[in-house]
Amino acid sequence: MRSSSPSTSLAIVSSRAPGKIIVSGEQFVVLGAPAVAMAVNLYSKIDVRPSQSGQIEVTADIPLHLVSDADKRSSSADNQELLEPLRLAASATLNHLATKDRGVLVDANCEIPIGAGLGSSASTTVATISAVAKSTGTRLDRREIFKLAFIPENFLHGHPSGVDQATCTYGGIIQFRKPSKINAIKVKRPPMILVCDSGVHRSTKALVGSVVKRSRTQADKFQTHLEEITRLSNAVVKALRDEDDIALGSLMNRNHELLRQIGVSTPRLDGLVAAARKTGALGAKLTGAGGGGCIIALCADNKARSSIARGLRREGGTIYNVSLDLQGVQ
Ligand code: MEV
Repeated sequence: MRSSSPSTSLAIVSSRAPGKIIVSGEQFVVLGAPAVAMAVNLYSKIDVRPSQSGQIEVTADIPLHLVSDADKRSSSADNQELLEPLRLAASATLNHLATKDRGVLVDANCEIPIGAGLGSSASTTVATISAVAKSTGTRLDRREIFKLAFIPENFLHGHPSGVDQATCTYGGIIQFRKPSKINAIKVKRPPMILVCDSGVHRSTKALVGSVVKRSRTQADKFQTHLEEITRLSNAVVKALRDEDDIALGSLMNRNHELLRQIGVSTPRLDGLVAAARKTGALGAKLTGAGGGGCIIALCADNKARSSIARGLRREGGTIYNVSLDLQGVQ
């Protein structure tokens, strides 16, 4: 449902959206298997105000430590790769609302590391769609935001399943299946998950593209994997509902192994996963597209979390102590 109020066109309006981690099923979700993902309390915030030029303008304040070395080399602060999806998100929203006035300035503030598999692009695009709509006096419902986000996500990723923007839009823990099946998973106690950034950032588009290609040339192998991941994601939902961390940990371990088998892990990620398990994680896996980015480790309690964090820091990882976001975009 969409609600309208008289336009407050001179005011600054804002929206924020969480980042995300994928607990099971990344990559395979693009090929049709279900994934389980969780919104986390790292946020992007978008401010929208009228632009002087009468055109869509986009600026971003992205702390440099969140941008990979490759991005720093190839870009300045107004990197088109980073800003173009937000321009597309604003444009798609104005088109959807049939708004003739294109004069919006979109200013992005993002505390989610870029290219690390934590949903920076989905979070910023979802928050942009929400904020641009608000600037016209309209509140879009979540389903509309989710759908519109395919336009910038297609540009950026080529083959997005939709799981990233679904998680950043709805918040909480969801089970997602293409094209748009989104089931909220209610849990009494969210899993204690520690995120560790390998510091190697990479392109989701290239990684997903290579997996999609390989799934065509190795159809039988992928079919078997898809069947296993489908069972695995369903078992993850059960383990979350039952608060069964032992089962959840071993499902995460198996999921990492399948991601390794399809070639999206790296020696660096395998090393971090091994270090997490050695220092007490109940399970650990890469999260997101792979090739670099982050791993997640399931911790039994605070004591285990500190010991795992110390172990991963020794390996040169950066720790994010995240918790579950329940709000989604707002
Ligand atoms: C990226 O966070 C998740 C992938 O499965 C891509 C997608 O589902 O769009 C790798």
